Amino acid sequence: MKESQLSPLLKATNISHSFDYPLFNNINLEIFQKESIAIVGVSGSGKSTLMHILSTLLKPNSGKVFLFGKDIYNQKKDILKIRRESIGIIFQSHYLFKGFSAIENLEVAAMLAKKEIDNSIIESFGIKRVINKKVTSLSGGEQQRVSIARVLMKKPKILFADEPTGNLDRKTANDVMDRVFEYIEQQKAALFLVTHDENLAKRCNRMYKLENLTLKRVY
Ligand SMILES: Nc1ncnc2c1ncn2[C@@H]1O[C@H](COP(=O)(O)OP(=O)(O)OP(=O)(O)O)[C@@H](O)[C@H]1O
Ligand SMILES: [Mg+2]
Repeated sequence: MKESQLSPLLKATNISHSFDYPLFNNINLEIFQKESIAIVGVSGSGKSTLMHILSTLLKPNSGKVFLFGKDIYNQKKDILKIRRESIGIIFQSHYLFKGFSAIENLEVAAMLAKKEIDNSIIESFGIKRVINKKVTSLSGGEQQRVSIARVLMKKPKILFADEPTGNLDRKTANDVMDRVFEYIEQQKAALFLVTHDENLAKRCNRMYKLENLTLKRVY
């Protein structure tokens, strides 16, 4: 096996972080290509904060995060390029560009990541019918699907997702996650998924629980 196949896409070492009180201490995690990792834990346990730390958005109080072998909080010049071109982040709230149509939202994302629009993503997320409408006129679930499609347009190597299917009925949620898991497999990418949904967590290769300041492996 080649070295590149063995090295993790993401490696976090001894991550600790506090706001007014400590959230977690000495968290270690590695994620390899084609892997999906689910993080569960009660509200306020720090799941979103951990995701922000691992996805270039928040420097931890201590510890290191390596993405594609780069120590991201020590190499400022790499961090923007990695964020723009190689990782995708689906937030708990979707942050679509409100004045724009669905297709314009997708085009901006593809352009910033220097990628082409992939029509198969539009088809597979069931958003073709609403593609020219202003995102503010879409239903909550349609907005959520556009926002996931928008992130995948970047062709990220690691996808971070915070409750990506929270607004969707079970069937639509399953369909959307089928597409996401297919994407991970086909693009040899990886998924870091925060969810309260045990059924969804069980579809991932590994599951961790954030509890008592640590990340405990459930399976
Ligand atoms: N920027 C911030 N400044 C101060 N405190 C913060 C900040 N972000 C989060 N917190 C606090 O840190 C704790 C963990 O927040 P976080 O959003 O990571 O939880 P979570 O596990 O994602 O919860 P939920 O399941 O409700 O989304 C909370 O108590 C929150 O109030
Ligand atoms: Mg959260």
